[in-house]
Amino acid sequence: MTKKTPVIKRYPDTKALAQAVVDLFIEIANEAIEARDVFTVALSGGTTPRSVYELLADERYAEAVDWSKVHVFWGDERSVPPNNPNSNYWMAENLWLGRGNIPEINIHRMKGELDAELAEMDYNRVLHDFFADNAAAGKPPRLDLVLLGMGDDGHTASLFPGTAAIHETERWVIAHFIEKLKTRRITLTPVVLNAAANVVFLVEGEGKAVRLKEVLEGPEQPDVLPAQIIAPTDGNLYWFVDEAAAADL
Ligand code: 6PG
Repeated sequence: MTKKTPVIKRYPDTKALAQAVVDLFIEIANEAIEARDVFTVALSGGTTPRSVYELLADERYAEAVDWSKVHVFWGDERSVPPNNPNSNYWMAENLWLGRGNIPEINIHRMKGELDAELAEMDYNRVLHDFFADNAAAGKPPRLDLVLLGMGDDGHTASLFPGTAAIHETERWVIAHFIEKLKTRRITLTPVVLNAAANVVFLVEGEGKAVRLKEVLEGPEQPDVLPAQIIAPTDGNLYWFVDEAAAADL
């Protein structure tokens, strides 16, 4: 299977970028629901996706998707409780999910409040239960859509430079200590991220321009630039970037 060429889409500003991501989100969601009566999406944390979540919460999208068929997962989570402002779940819940269009039972958060190893075991069970057919066939979950950000150090999800998780080939979820942050993070591994049908990076701001050029146009060095490990085995890879982040491309 040959990996598809990443599709890079440039937008003048946050508003235009968020609208484009929401349009693609709805397109993929409706295709998935039409085909398999379910749509699975893993959300990103950080600040960039905020505008996407706020837009998805808008009344105009209340009927755009059969939200009862949508299941929400996360790409990573911080080691904090769900009501902590640093929680990736808390952000999405407050900006979008709390509106209630998606049934609570369809929202599968990583339990950052648990001891990291327990959180890893818990989320591994969540994924194995939900994607039981894949697990039984010895295959990773195939999420319909994964939203990812890219840090100014080239990390994505909680795959940080120099961490073994970048090269994980078996485990679906890893809880690990991030030296740079002096804290633990829970993250999906490339085993799951690269099994997705669609992966969308959201990158904004001039602060990301140098790193984005390195990631997209520089030599392959995923230990230094973990975002480079993301290459869906049989899926689409999109980079939705604003002109500021794309300045050096
Ligand atoms: C997190 C995210 C992380 C984020 C990048 C980019 O938990 O923080 O999952 O991978 O996507 O750090 O963050 P910004 O969008 O804030 O630049």
